[in-house]
Amino acid sequence: MRQVHIVGNWKMNQTTSEVDTFFKELGDLSEVSAQAWIAPQAIHLDRLLKFPQIKCGAQNCAQNDSGAFTGELSPKSLKDIGAHFTLVGHSERRSIYKESDELLNAKTLKALENDLVVIFCVGETLEQREANQVETVLKSQLENGLRGLNSTHIGKVIIAYEPVWAIGTGKVATPEQAQQAHKYTRSVLESIDGFSAQETIILYGGSVKPDNIKGLLSNEDIDGALVGGASLKGQSFKDLCTQAQ
Ligand code: 13P
Repeated sequence: MRQVHIVGNWKMNQTTSEVDTFFKELGDLSEVSAQAWIAPQAIHLDRLLKFPQIKCGAQNCAQNDSGAFTGELSPKSLKDIGAHFTLVGHSERRSIYKESDELLNAKTLKALENDLVVIFCVGETLEQREANQVETVLKSQLENGLRGLNSTHIGKVIIAYEPVWAIGTGKVATPEQAQQAHKYTRSVLESIDGFSAQETIILYGGSVKPDNIKGLLSNEDIDGALVGGASLKGQSFKDLCTQAQ
């Protein structure tokens, strides 16, 4: 049985007072059975650790534990302060910061070495979808980004399928499009070391809102959501978690 996960990716948003308002609105989540996780800006991680109703993690981390990497975030330090997970390979990291499959692979392995759960993000652009390349893109991102894992990593990597054309556009994938990509992703995981494909949690991301999450989660291979805009307000995040029951 795969547990539903609702993960908020706050990206480069939220001031300290907005964070406090979020948690006032959110209240307690004791009635909610889904796992509720949030990746704030790194400067707010310490603040979020005080709120036991969620687990918090990073939006990105470095491929090394320490050293001359100005501006980067050490996975060892993330673990040290109590972070639970890190995203790796979000499409904004791939496109704006030109992070390659090779670098993302190194980041994944280093995060796992530090006992962080990795949420590894994949997804095609609109151009690639229109050229019928969805499966080719997913296969290549998964195989290249997840090289070198082994049986000790089973259960430590979550996959997030985020079609780039659905991110921040209000153009959510249809439940059928998402299910098809998730099912394919699960089939690719069958042949990658470090995964028990049937037990792997696969999240959908891209314009998920409280009013469309139910339709997405009613599909067999969709185990939760990675949410940007709709995770920024406490009430909306709570609604997502409640709808996901
Ligand atoms: P939106 O939910 O704002 O479309 O963002 C999705 C996303 O990129 C989550 O990582």
